[in-house]
Amino acid sequence: MGNLEAGVPTGRIAAMIERESDHYSQRNPTSKKLAAQAATHWHHGVPMHWMLDWSTPFPLFVADAAGASLTDVDGHKYDDFCLGDTGSMFGHSPAPVAAAIAEQAHHGLTYMLPTEDVIEVGKLLAAKFGLPYWQVATTATDANRFVIRWCRAITRRDKVLVFHGCYHGSCDDTFVRLKDGKPIHRPGLIGQVYDVTSHTKVVEFNDIAGLEAALKDGDVACVITEPALTNIGMVLPQPGFLDALRQLTRKYGTLLVIDETHTISTGYGGYTRVHGLEPDFLTIGKPIAGGIPCSVYGCTAEMAEKMITAETEAGPGYSGMGTTLSANAMALKAMRANLEHVMTEAAYAHMLPLSERLAHGIEAEIKQRNLPWHVSNVGARAEFVCAAERPRNGTEAQAAMHHKVELAIHLYLLNRGVIIAPFHNMTLVCPATTTAQVDHLIATVGGCLDELLN
Ligand SMILES: Cc1ncc(COP(=O)(O)O)c(C=O)c1O
Repeated sequence: MGNLEAGVPTGRIAAMIERESDHYSQRNPTSKKLAAQAATHWHHGVPMHWMLDWSTPFPLFVADAAGASLTDVDGHKYDDFCLGDTGSMFGHSPAPVAAAIAEQAHHGLTYMLPTEDVIEVGKLLAAKFGLPYWQVATTATDANRFVIRWCRAITRRDKVLVFHGCYHGSCDDTFVRLKDGKPIHRPGLIGQVYDVTSHTKVVEFNDIAGLEAALKDGDVACVITEPALTNIGMVLPQPGFLDALRQLTRKYGTLLVIDETHTISTGYGGYTRVHGLEPDFLTIGKPIAGGIPCSVYGCTAEMAEKMITAETEAGPGYSGMGTTLSANAMALKAMRANLEHVMTEAAYAHMLPLSERLAHGIEAEIKQRNLPWHVSNVGARAEFVCAAERPRNGTEAQAAMHHKVELAIHLYLLNRGVIIAPFHNMTLVCPATTTAQVDHLIATVGGCLDELLN
């Protein structure tokens, strides 16, 4: 049988990557031509380097997208389970958001003044997420950066705590990982001139003792975390972990920031509402305005009061928070439409069972072939992991990643009209996703596994 990677013969993986790469190149001549043209003026040929993080030999150029489908410039139609890596988690161009954008387009896009939409959006955010006070930023990265600043100002502590394997955007304070039990900079950082580990502590997710040890000096302003780690494969909280996190943060005077940017997939109001978490701050970006750049952060009344105290103490000047286009009229209009008509309980009532069908379906394909893999899901988000055991922390999740296997699967799926996220094996189901699309994904994964194994 030769060498195996995650239970798959390595020779088969290499052969699939080679064959599917050739197939991709042949079937996408227009994308290939555009990629060559784009190389003239774009660094690495793309306007944002993540567009190279796909398994393809050159980027797939998109012509159109609607709901859960995407069409490329060569005319192929895809079932899209990546959905802009959550930016379009509620579907591409949801009709109410598209209409709101079209309406606002003729009334000015940004004025650095509020519109009447602000009133309703504030009510909607408070009602959905259960926190009374809100601010708008433009990306989840910014929301997290600003909240970390607030937490430091409120607590007058300089340290932040993250979990190994976390991702909260390109937010410097969170670029710390564990290596052999020691904090290090996240590998690959460019232009990092100060030592982030001097202000950021890092422990493993689900490690209650490690968390307490890191908090007990009383120098940590906040813990920032997703309630389940979704950026290193998927790491679910073990029973009692999130309760312990809340108890320990309270015990040591540390604030708790829950980043719901991805776990909004859990259900209506996100993981926080579904599981009754009690964060001091909650951040969410990506899909909050239906795909228009926008993010928000909310806080409790107690935090809001402390923010005012911190501002008074800081005195006049610049807070280091806010960007010119944040909370622009277009973003508010889109967010209002999205919150009112798209991110609804009815939408989740469609998405959750369908995602469960997807997870069970892929699990059955895996079991049928005795592969040492498993599937985890957090509501509308599912992840098939090429390891037998569910990872309990970032280190185990990292060890469960098999880049070559993922590459082969992604390419195989793409060439057969199915897109999943380019990073690990993540799928999202949106309100427009159909049962037929889910069943097609499951069958195509099955076909791929057959070709890898037989
Ligand atoms: C949990 C989480 N927070 C924040 C971000 C950053 O989002 P953005 O890139 O839109 O700033 C991401 C991006 O993947 C994320 O997964």
